[in-house]
Amino acid sequence: MRTALITGASSGIGRKVALHLAKCGFQVTACARRENLLSALAEELGPQHMVRALDVTKRGAVRTVVSEIIDKHGGLDLLFNNAGINVQGTCGIEGEAFDSVIGTNLTGAWNVLNEVVPHMKLREQGTIINVSSICGKTAFPDVGIYSASKFGLLAINESLFRELVPLGIRVTALCPSWVNTDMAVHGPMSDDKKIQTNDICTSIDYLLSLSPNAHVKELVLECGSDLI
Ligand SMILES: NC(=O)c1ccc[n+]([C@@H]2O[C@H](COP(=O)([O-])OP(=O)(O)OC[C@H]3O[C@@H](n4cnc5c(N)ncnc54)[C@H](OP(=O)(O)O)[C@@H]3O)[C@@H](O)[C@H]2O)c1
Repeated sequence: MRTALITGASSGIGRKVALHLAKCGFQVTACARRENLLSALAEELGPQHMVRALDVTKRGAVRTVVSEIIDKHGGLDLLFNNAGINVQGTCGIEGEAFDSVIGTNLTGAWNVLNEVVPHMKLREQGTIINVSSICGKTAFPDVGIYSASKFGLLAINESLFRELVPLGIRVTALCPSWVNTDMAVHGPMSDDKKIQTNDICTSIDYLLSLSPNAHVKELVLECGSDLI
């Protein structure tokens, strides 16, 4: 059975993707920090899947979860590297906000890749999906710190794409605009005009359906009503 690790699975995109991949036949490990939300997810997923409390900023804890998956299943087929936070602002805000966004969205995402990639290299197979953002492509006013974290993740994604695709490992960054989750609750359009979490699942299905010769480095999902 194929195995998948989803970070940031307690809500929003990650939760939807965890349930979707389980339905598609993956053996899922779903991680995040909020244990109450994880318990509800565990019930929905069922006992054959794993749910673990994990803060991606804690390197030792990330190593423990990845080792557990490898020990139990012999490998990891899909990483959905999704955990992230948002903060408004670029300058004139508390330094802790900068540390926290970079620490989660960039360092945290790297912490997970740093543990997963060596295992995928050994097997010369696997799929990595890094969740960046449209803010990783364009730095809009007042989201400079968030953008910096997502631009940084695209740099890591591109480097890994060039390194790992020749070995048979898929690497893609998802760069969505407004997705209908708690994070985008203050978006400029109504929820029904946003990208839906289902669209993210469909994007994953598309990536997995491609032949071994076809690779997508970045998938940019624009929100139509934001372009008007
Ligand atoms: N919604 C959008 O419009 C949009 C657009 C582009 C990109 N994105 C990206 O999509 C990803 C998912 O966001 P979302 O929209 O689904 O928002 P969300 O509902 O707030 O989900 C964020 C997830 O990340 C987890 N998380 C945050 N910090 C973490 C940490 N230190 N360790 C482990 N997990 C952590 C949260 O769980 P806990 O709090 O339980 O840990 C939560 O499950 C993020 O990377 C975000 O930047 C979102």
